Amino acid sequence: MEKRGQWSSRFTFILAAIGSAVGLGNAWRFPGLAAKHGGGTFLVVYLFAMLAMGIPLLMMEIAISRKLRKGAIESMRGIGKKWEPVGWAATSNAFVIVCYYAVVFAWVILMFVNSWQFAGMTGKKTASDEASALFFKLTHTTGAIDGTLIPGQVLVCLLIAWGLIFFCIRNGANSVGKVVKFTVFAPVLLLLIMAIKGCTMPDAIEGIKILFIPKLEAFKDPTLWVDAIGQVFYSLSIMMAIMFAYGSYLGDDADIAADAMIIAFSDMAISVLSGIVMFSTMGGTGMLDKITDSGIGTAFIVYPQAIVNLTNIGWFNAVFGAIFYLMLITLAIDSAFSIVEGISAAVSDKFHLKPKTVTISVCAIAGIISILFVSQAGLAWLDIVDHWANSVNLILVGILECVAIGWTFNLRKILDEVNKNAKNFRTPFWWFAASIKFIAPVLLAGLFVWNMVDLFYTKHGTYDPNYPIWAQIAAGWAVSALVFLSGFIAKIFIANQKKKGLTEDEVVWKDN
Ligand code: PHE
Repeated sequence: MEKRGQWSSRFTFILAAIGSAVGLGNAWRFPGLAAKHGGGTFLVVYLFAMLAMGIPLLMMEIAISRKLRKGAIESMRGIGKKWEPVGWAATSNAFVIVCYYAVVFAWVILMFVNSWQFAGMTGKKTASDEASALFFKLTHTTGAIDGTLIPGQVLVCLLIAWGLIFFCIRNGANSVGKVVKFTVFAPVLLLLIMAIKGCTMPDAIEGIKILFIPKLEAFKDPTLWVDAIGQVFYSLSIMMAIMFAYGSYLGDDADIAADAMIIAFSDMAISVLSGIVMFSTMGGTGMLDKITDSGIGTAFIVYPQAIVNLTNIGWFNAVFGAIFYLMLITLAIDSAFSIVEGISAAVSDKFHLKPKTVTISVCAIAGIISILFVSQAGLAWLDIVDHWANSVNLILVGILECVAIGWTFNLRKILDEVNKNAKNFRTPFWWFAASIKFIAPVLLAGLFVWNMVDLFYTKHGTYDPNYPIWAQIAAGWAVSALVFLSGFIAKIFIANQKKKGLTEDEVVWKDN
């Protein structure tokens, strides 16, 4: 058997995990949600959700996979044989997510390549309209389940996106380690440049105020809690098979307790930094009321308007636009490849396959599926799939993981693994246990019920009445069903393969 890949250093692991956590979600989802929920108010609740659930669960996933040296599927099997399907569900959902995350990544590349066009829009009366129409013009999107055209230029960008993803993970931990040294620092640098530009604009302070000053009445809105909890999970890349994979490449000497804190707080810091960029630029261009929580609109439709309104100098605005989209490229790429790596590690561990073979297959299959999302109807499909993947699948996986690990396994053992090399900071048992056994499953279950009520009661079984029901059943409910059935389908397949000589590992937690 091949030797398992390992991170070349502690620093590399931290960078890779930060790279995965920091993605498009930080750049626009976070600022959009903050705007919706009274700025500082959102920050406070987000911090609470991070401490109450995010960080302990992050430590938990890393510790389990470091101990067992396995990806998500086999790691969950190590918790208990009957929990293996939970690992499959996490992995399958990761697969669903990467199919469209790659497309958003491709759109970012598309806008980067076309940012020169901003130069010609500046100073005109119709500049804002032209800028916001650019995305529609390039992607030919209809925004509805309608239209089959696939624009060549977007397809090429999608190909580039997949090429880059594959290039970064072709040799697992080895190649990832080399790339993240660049892809983590580059966006931070670019964000800083944009923050300086943003904050030196006349009305920037109005935007910054919205981001930081808490509005007390916002606490009353229950969607504040729902959004903050969802954002913590999405942003830390937990429950997506990723942290299991990254943890499994960790050396025995890693200080998981401290590393998880560094990862989580860096993630939060970068969210706040991109919030500053968004709000100062929007404030400076007088567009504060246009920040929305539906991220895609902000990045591709609203932000271009801000770009052309920055100055009257066309080339300057175009350069700023290029920097913005380059920043998004460097932000998105390490999240995109981390999710492929999560799938690849889980599957190759399960079936004793060569990781590289699995990586190629995942990129190829997901690549073909992702073509659906670059068609004219792509944005609508993406919207539907994204909604179910995050507000149904991700949360259900979270609940199941917490129940499996918190209630049927010995949490002390996991915490010992977390604290094994702890020096300055040891995670206390009460925090770990309270979070995994009670707070996380209860709040997640509440969130799940909330989403279901919203879906069925408020919206009558559909997520968005503008899309046809069949599309929501196919891309929403049916995909969710497949995600959760995948473990059982795999079981039948494995039973068959066993007759042909496949052996299944016993994954056992050996006490030291
Ligand atoms: N944490 C990522 C972000 O904030 C989300 C993500 C990571 C999504 C990996 C998919 C895959 O954007």
